Amino acid sequence: MGGMSPAACLHKCRGLDLKLKKISMIYRAQSQILPLWKGFCFMTLVIRRSRIHADGCYTTEPIKKGGFVTEYTGPRITLAEADALYEKSPRTYLFGLTNGTHVIDGDSASAFINHSCDANCEADEVDGKVIITAVRKIEAGEELTYDYNLYDGELDDDSPCYCGTKHCRGSMYSEKEIEKRAQAKLEAKNKNR
Ligand SMILES: C[S@@+](CC[C@H](N)C(=O)[O-])C[C@H]1O[C@@H](n2cnc3c(N)ncnc32)[C@H](O)[C@@H]1O
Ligand SMILES: [Zn+2]
Repeated sequence: MGGMSPAACLHKCRGLDLKLKKISMIYRAQSQILPLWKGFCFMTLVIRRSRIHADGCYTTEPIKKGGFVTEYTGPRITLAEADALYEKSPRTYLFGLTNGTHVIDGDSASAFINHSCDANCEADEVDGKVIITAVRKIEAGEELTYDYNLYDGELDDDSPCYCGTKHCRGSMYSEKEIEKRAQAKLEAKNKNR
């Protein structure tokens, strides 16, 4: 795992406060000037132990509500490649893309962002890039989280959630997926009677 993502560096260097709809266009422009800015980056995201799970990602700077946080960077690989690479890994840093065929194999601090059922960030796919923005004001030193809204897991994998918030669903699956899984479990139980 590497250090801070390029987008986070640019955020710090240029004081950007991007609105989601503008990110895609601006990011493309930024990518072209990235080499010029690389030497001026300050660390704004750090990885530290988390009370949610193992290590987490923290901001050293306050972030405004709606502000750009970082991009979930890493190579795009197919689901089959991900399976082959990580079948036996207990923990992975994969982010599923909406095309349903590819995932991002996280390679920056953003890959350490843990799940929370009452998250301070959200992750959105914009033109194939995964952009993380703040859904509320975040103070310096806070752990960054977003809702994983997991889906399509094995029936025997409940992916328990330890976010500890008042609104915890008890699982990192989406609400819809929790209902779907409960129904599937009921059907499996009835079938075995
Ligand atoms: C991308 S990693 C996040 C970084 C991870 N904490 C680490 O130190 O490698 C995703 C994994 O972290 C764990 N995780 C993240 N959020 C969690 C939560 N709210 N409750 C339980 N486990 C969580 C799960 O094992 C999940 O598969
Ligand atoms: Zn939770």
